[in-house]
Amino acid sequence: MAFRYDAPQPVLHTVTEAGEKITLRPAELKDAAGVLATCTDPETLRWTTVPLGYDHEMAAGFATEYAPGWWQRHEGACWVVADAEDTYVGQLDLRIGKDPEVADVGFVTAPYARGRGYMTAALRAAAEYGLRELGVVRVEWKAHVGNEGSRRVAEKAGFSFEGVQRSGCAHRGERRDAWTAALVREDLA
Ligand SMILES: CC(C)(COP(=O)(O)OP(=O)(O)OC[C@H]1O[C@@H](n2cnc3c(N)ncnc32)[C@H](O)[C@@H]1OP(=O)(O)O)[C@@H](O)C(=O)NCCC(=O)NCCS
Repeated sequence: MAFRYDAPQPVLHTVTEAGEKITLRPAELKDAAGVLATCTDPETLRWTTVPLGYDHEMAAGFATEYAPGWWQRHEGACWVVADAEDTYVGQLDLRIGKDPEVADVGFVTAPYARGRGYMTAALRAAAEYGLRELGVVRVEWKAHVGNEGSRRVAEKAGFSFEGVQRSGCAHRGERRDAWTAALVREDLA
């Protein structure tokens, strides 16, 4: 499926449970304020590996380097999740590693936009895109044990819970136990 990467990173359109239209699109410099608010939020720092001390420069670099890098390297995609007004409400990575048939996901919703169903809809759209268009057979979700919000998003998006991976997550120099779940291609049938 490498040929997909010859085209620009796609924009995905989807709808939340409440009927709100959202898009998953490439990052833009105008997203920097939202990225900064999200990447300095205590809940984001608690549950993700976003670097400590995130600043304006890193938020701009998100749009110019980090986010486009995944598609440029043919390793999946990083999308900004934008609401109907095209405002940044979160971000989602679909990352394809050594095994080209397996992707993993990472996501954060902006603190001002949580609880509106954005990430559930975005995760489903991104995972389906990977399974249908990028040759992926299995999309994996992993979170620290206890991240109930993330688990709820994954399960609402159709991922099946698989269990606990002991010491499964690296987190700021230590290891944490991880919950895992997956959506596989046959789930779409
Ligand atoms: C987890 C997170 C991504 C959820 O994003 P969101 O856009 O608010 O999620 P949704 O609105 O799609 O919520 C989906 C469901 O999860 C539930 N949920 C969301 N956050 C929750 C929380 N902290 N605790 C329990 N349930 C939660 C919602 O109530 C909803 O369930 P419902 O429809 O039965 O009411 C967001 O809270 C976040 O960015 N957290 C910090 C970073 C993080 O943990 N990222 C994931 C790392 S693996």
